[in-house]
Amino acid sequence: MRLPTAVVSGGTGAIGGEICRQLRTAGFDVLAIGHPAEAARLPELQARLGPEIAIRFCDLADPEACAALLAGLPTPFEIVDVLVNAAGITRDARFVKMSLRQWREVMAANLDAAFHLSQPLFTAMCARGYGRIVNISSVNGQKGQFGQANYSAAKAALHGFTMALAQEGAAQGVTVNTVSPGYIETPMTAAIKPEALAKIRAQIPLGRLGLPAEIARVVCFLCDAQSAYITGANIPVNGGLYMSA
Ligand code: CAA
Repeated sequence: MRLPTAVVSGGTGAIGGEICRQLRTAGFDVLAIGHPAEAARLPELQARLGPEIAIRFCDLADPEACAALLAGLPTPFEIVDVLVNAAGITRDARFVKMSLRQWREVMAANLDAAFHLSQPLFTAMCARGYGRIVNISSVNGQKGQFGQANYSAAKAALHGFTMALAQEGAAQGVTVNTVSPGYIETPMTAAIKPEALAKIRAQIPLGRLGLPAEIARVVCFLCDAQSAYITGANIPVNGGLYMSA
């Protein structure tokens, strides 16, 4: 019998990697997409993800590269049941110092990439009558963050994208949701200056950073076939850093 299939962009990263592993444990065939700059580290990445997870590399900011990737997906990924858009980068700077390049790189990796992957896969899911898409946004898309005009804008836009697709996919059995992590123990937060990170940690009611596994758990829940009545939602997993009614 065919296992359900999942494609995870950013699947070679800290949060994406944990999503891949938990989806695998939940019974999915999983394909992780990493950036071409990581290709030389394939043996290490494969060892970290486990031998059963397929890995491909693609510059998701490039629409032609995405089209080529999707056209050449290996068996059994001719049918994709689940897409997780987890690829993301930061280029933090105060807005007065932010270059157009910093703006565009963040928009391309965090937002355009989701368009490039989702359009063909969402179309196929709608035609088949089933699908799950989960977009990984951020607490900073909900509350804004000093030094992240680019990232906050891209992550807020990602949830707008979620809500529009949720409406378009609803009649075809395709649910589309956002998960908004707070500050999670990853290389991305490890790169924040210690003084800045200390200030942020002090604002988190649970008093600690989150773990990638705590994000993956929620993503897996949304990817389950039985999570059929949740769509257009934005689920915060942020230790209480941002609460809303
Ligand atoms: N509120 C008000 N002022 C702040 C501030 C804040 N939160 N953070 C920094 N500043 C002020 C400093 O006090 C300083 O002011 P003075 O010049 O008056 O002393 C000024 O900003 C320093 O700005 P600079 O342009 O000189 O830049 P810098 O090199 O100090 O760095 C920064 C600025 C890059 C924004 C740095 O503060 C920073 O990294 N902040 C954290 C940004 C952040 O949270 N990034 C999240 C990354 S992880 C992630 O994105 C994952 C996720 O989804 C959560």
